Amino acid sequence: MRHFLTILEHDADTLRHLLAEATRLKAAVAKGNFSTALQNKVVGLVFEKPSLRTRVSFEAGVAQLGGVSLFQAGSEVGLGVRESLADFARTMSQYVNAIVLRVFEHSTVEGIAAASSVPVVNGLSDTSHPCQAMADVLTVQECFGDVAGKTIAFIGDGNNVARSLAVLCGKLGMNFILAHPEGYGFPADFAANYAKHVSSTLPTEIRDAGEAVKSADVIYTDVWTSMGQEAEREKRLNEFAPYQVNDALLKKAPKHVKVLHCLPAHRGEEITHDVMECPASVVFQQAGNRMHAQKAILEWLMKQ
Ligand code: CP
Ligand code: NVA
Repeated sequence: MRHFLTILEHDADTLRHLLAEATRLKAAVAKGNFSTALQNKVVGLVFEKPSLRTRVSFEAGVAQLGGVSLFQAGSEVGLGVRESLADFARTMSQYVNAIVLRVFEHSTVEGIAAASSVPVVNGLSDTSHPCQAMADVLTVQECFGDVAGKTIAFIGDGNNVARSLAVLCGKLGMNFILAHPEGYGFPADFAANYAKHVSSTLPTEIRDAGEAVKSADVIYTDVWTSMGQEAEREKRLNEFAPYQVNDALLKKAPKHVKVLHCLPAHRGEEITHDVMECPASVVFQQAGNRMHAQKAILEWLMKQ
């Protein structure tokens, strides 16, 4: 059974195929041509954390593909608490044709996928956000054409978003630089997994944000405090303060640079209002691409 839990488990050809399919589906919708790949299919979403983009883009994407989605709050389902992950997965598999999860522990998506007889999609875990990475690279592709050799400078935390994007960049021959404060880089197990699944060298990690953007085609940032880390917010606000994506940082980048942010953004923290709204910013195009990338993933998962 194919799942979409991380970027790590998919080869470059599959990932390129999914990006091409996303482009094709996006163009088809613009012309009013809708695929019926999910006709008579039901997609179940269970989210332990808040969401706007992921939930709505999946639900809208499923509707565009002719299917039906249903949403359950993780707090109600009690994944692994009210019943075991395996019992949840075996029950859900009787009702739905695919399961989309947003969870704290990555082991939750793994535990459910292991017992599920329908495809499981990771809509964000503490360590991975693979659907986001696909939409991000789709956006880079729309901006620059061929993505091979392009450089993304990620300014901030080596978090779930950074990790999935770094792996996708590695698989597609792109360069990924993470500029982060001391203590907030990629964890040791990330490097070990990366080396196991990606043939290119590990992403570069540096302290100096200005240095990171010098040859960047894309500047990327995300919130400094991810969902589940709220108790660390004050500490993080202080430590990440020199890593704000602002006009001064943008001036150090090449003129053609684009700015991405997975959203939600905290204007005035990791990114300024001015940069969010500047011509280089493609953050809403990027948000829109979540739906197209995920439709391609769902279609591909349904074909097995
Ligand atoms: N980028 C993203 O996943 O947004 P949501 O948290 O709103 O789903
Ligand atoms: N790193 C953020 C991404 C939100 C889409 C978080 O996990 O909260």
